[in-house]
Amino acid sequence: MEGMETPVTVVILAAGLGTRMKSKMAKVLHRAGGKTLIEHAVETALEIAPAERIFVVVGHQAERVRAAARTPGIGFIEQAEQLGTGHALLVGRAALAKLDGYLAIIYGDGPLLRASTLRRLIETVDGGNAAGALLSAEMADPTGYGRVVRGAGDSVKTIVEQKAASPKQLEIREANMGIYCYRAELFWRHVDEMRPDNPAHEYYLTDMVEILGRSEQRVAAVKIDDARECLGINNRIELAEADRLLRERKLRELMLEGVTIERPETVTIDGGVEIGIDTVIEPFARIVGATRIGENCRIGASSVIEDSTIGDEVEIGPLTVMTGARLERGVKAGPFSRLRPGSHLDENSHVGNFVELKKTRLGAGAKANHLAYLGDAEIGAGSNIGAGTITCNYDGTDKHPTRIGAGAFVGSNSTLVAPVEIGDGAYVAAGSVITTPVPADALGLGRAHQVVKEDWARKRRARLAAKPAGGK
Ligand code: UD1
Ligand code: CA
Repeated sequence: MEGMETPVTVVILAAGLGTRMKSKMAKVLHRAGGKTLIEHAVETALEIAPAERIFVVVGHQAERVRAAARTPGIGFIEQAEQLGTGHALLVGRAALAKLDGYLAIIYGDGPLLRASTLRRLIETVDGGNAAGALLSAEMADPTGYGRVVRGAGDSVKTIVEQKAASPKQLEIREANMGIYCYRAELFWRHVDEMRPDNPAHEYYLTDMVEILGRSEQRVAAVKIDDARECLGINNRIELAEADRLLRERKLRELMLEGVTIERPETVTIDGGVEIGIDTVIEPFARIVGATRIGENCRIGASSVIEDSTIGDEVEIGPLTVMTGARLERGVKAGPFSRLRPGSHLDENSHVGNFVELKKTRLGAGAKANHLAYLGDAEIGAGSNIGAGTITCNYDGTDKHPTRIGAGAFVGSNSTLVAPVEIGDGAYVAAGSVITTPVPADALGLGRAHQVVKEDWARKRRARLAAKPAGGK
């Protein structure tokens, strides 16, 4: 027995366009579970093989597929013309045949395949003195799939494609999932025996089963319990199904790790998101990209959180939207807050409804609780930003900073015309337009003086009453 130390090479077939997607974009560039299909395949491959032994067969939109696969070290094989799954291997022969060990073959359009299943497949070859093994599944309706015809001792005798199958063979419910592992040396020794002698004039990879059988080599089948793991995406309905399954998988993982998810069927969380224990995710939350959330947080209903880092004990109110934000421990944000890239909320600071931040640091314990725009600003610890405060950071050409010290009090409806500075402990009177610095501990007051005209209203009413009714 060679053991799992035997090196594995993974070939990912991804040259097809995927006509049934009805798209201008190659099939494997579509996304499910927050990633392109090709990224999923490469990630799965990386769990069982080093990057230098992973090869993607590209054809349609090769450049874009290469870019999407973006993993340093992996190889690409150009299959300009797609003459079948077997042909995809033939064109890669120069690069592949020199690699010993196992040759695993997967599809670029099957994002649900688990690395653990691939390992099981490899172990079957490894422990079972077989030349190769394939994944199969019993399906209620195997229409469109190749059928697994079993031979002596349970090994696979041949695979017949739907179109070539006899009525009797069409009754077979065990379908070929199209995922293989072969002993590389045997595979390459016999690969030339594939012939495009079928109605489609294609080189069928499935022919390798019979070819190896002819030289007394056994190919085994590993039955998986749920064919959905090998769901190959052909149209947008299957894409949505794969997306749903991937997200369901992620939610189950999180729940088993101690995250409470209310109404999980409404929640969308990307595969790469990390969430700490005892955090509660309310219905319809959407948490995507490179997001990390700490322990014991609450993520409000219908919030959208993208590429953000959230510490422990953070409370996000409903309908809060953030991208590229960082929230330290104990922060409260929302409902209805908008945190744009570069928003950094220090410990225990608060932002409330209809408050927008961009490239702004809000100091520890500082508050901006209602209706404000704070852009390109630095706000010191413990400051209070009144309702309706606006940092006028843009002069039509350039952006300018606003600096507010610690313990400052900015009255409601203040307009801070940047660049401007407000010192520690300073006050800004409500309704001020501030264009020059307010030093520490000073009061900045920038509004018209109020005028009061005694009796003005009473006199006006008397004047109006003295006019003749309806008169001119
Ligand atoms: C194949 C199998 C079938 C199996 C099914 C499982 C063959 C002949 N048949 O059929 O037994 O049940 O998968 O899904 O292999 N591709 C290339 N280059 C090519 C042809 C295909 O890269 O020249 C890629 C496609 O982009 C696709 C994958 O290989 O991702 C599968 O090809 P497809 O034509 O869909 O094979 P099936 O007809 O589904
Ligand atoms: Ca297919």
